[in-house]
Amino acid sequence: MDDNSPHSVSPRRNSPYLRQLALQCAAASIVLGIAWPYCLLRRQTLPWFESSLLIGALAFLFSSLSAQYWWWRVIHASFAPATVLFSGLNVAPEWYLATFVLMFLVYRGAVTSQVPLYISSLGAIRALSELLADVPARKIIDLGAGTGSVASALARTRRDVQVFGIENSFLPWAIGFFRTARLKNCHWSLGSFWQVPLADCDVVYAFLSPAPMSDLWLKAKREMRPGTLFISNGFEVPDVTADAEIEVADSGKTRLYCYRL
Ligand SMILES: C[S@@+](CC[C@H](N)C(=O)[O-])C[C@H]1O[C@@H](n2cnc3c(N)ncnc32)[C@H](O)[C@@H]1O
Repeated sequence: MDDNSPHSVSPRRNSPYLRQLALQCAAASIVLGIAWPYCLLRRQTLPWFESSLLIGALAFLFSSLSAQYWWWRVIHASFAPATVLFSGLNVAPEWYLATFVLMFLVYRGAVTSQVPLYISSLGAIRALSELLADVPARKIIDLGAGTGSVASALARTRRDVQVFGIENSFLPWAIGFFRTARLKNCHWSLGSFWQVPLADCDVVYAFLSPAPMSDLWLKAKREMRPGTLFISNGFEVPDVTADAEIEVADSGKTRLYCYRL
């Protein structure tokens, strides 16, 4: 959940990172709590790699039992073994810092809203452009606009419309900035979409992840005007039936879920 989100959160999504930390710490405490005294008593050195495999297995079990998303299970299973393996490589600490900074510049959205960067397929952009070709609109916005591929395409196909894109990760935003710079009807900004009022938007497009969909729908319902259009690429609003679903002819079998406010 974004720090800036003004919305309430459900228990499952409350403090997701603390929850994951707790799961990993629980697995490590159990394995090391047994293995360490055992090795001390037997005057043996702790077999770090084997212990890390056990920690990974236990963390995987805990994350599966607590119904975490599949990618969290993979991270839990591999975190301790990867830590032990990498610590044996004697990589200079600056590289870890540099990698962390680079990842943060690209994937800030994954930290703030559990939404990583991935780009709408060309097929999805084409389908969206066709869908919106005749829709009466003055303002369209892409929430979490990535590198600007959707916003720039829409700004080109709909010269009569003001297209907005907002992105909170610096590197994708910078790419989008150059991509949209020459498009007079394309407005590109760095920031959180939770802070953007949707009251004057005729079409809101979002390609995010399952995590923010309920809260985003609440925001859309509260702020968007009746008759306007909310389109989600790939992720349905939980417990709300879409007014239309468009199946895109691309390799990912993308679906665009369209909700009329
Ligand atoms: C799946 S990508 C979609 C990119 C683009 N809309 C597209 O369809 O190609 C989602 C983007 O949302 C951004 N994001 C995540 N949380 C955000 C937030 N709170 N405010 C603005 N952007 C956010 C991520 O950094 C990521 O670039």
